[in-house]
Amino acid sequence: MIKVLFVCLGNICRSPIAHGIMQNLIQQLHLENKFMIDSAGTSAYHVGGLSDKRSLDVLAQHGIKLDHLVRQFRYNDMEVFDFILVMDHLNYEDVLNSARTDKQRSKVFLLRSFDPEVSDDFNVPDPYYGNNSDFEDVYLMCERSIRGFIQYTYKNQINSNTLAI
Ligand code: 4NP
Repeated sequence: MIKVLFVCLGNICRSPIAHGIMQNLIQQLHLENKFMIDSAGTSAYHVGGLSDKRSLDVLAQHGIKLDHLVRQFRYNDMEVFDFILVMDHLNYEDVLNSARTDKQRSKVFLLRSFDPEVSDDFNVPDPYYGNNSDFEDVYLMCERSIRGFIQYTYKNQINSNTLAI
């Protein structure tokens, strides 16, 4: 079982989109017994609340439903999860600052390092003050990155035939 945690600042916009996409993709690929998915925010601003409506809307437009309540990233996540996939460089710094061992540090990746169409800065930009098209852009970046990530983990860790994804 590969345990994956998506992290952004608020856990209401970007990481819930990534969470929903990956959960949906692993169901379609019948890989539910290979992956465990969760998401969290580095801040406590929205803890206990629902995802931003615009994130739930963009997921619904792609046929995906997500049930998730905001939670804050905590130190124990560094131990529990195998991969901590962060949305931007700020999240990267925040998560790395909480790591205490090299093993924990080695679990942290910028999500877009798995995006075959990545731009120079490797960030999934924060759409909080943006419009619906910014949320759709986040969706597309996350989807490409997650497909790339599943292929990466599958090839490197599960050691089976390449998936048609
Ligand atoms: P997220 O977006 O990190 O993608 O969930 C944000 C949501 C809320 C805030 C900032 C970013 N905020 O400042 O409340």
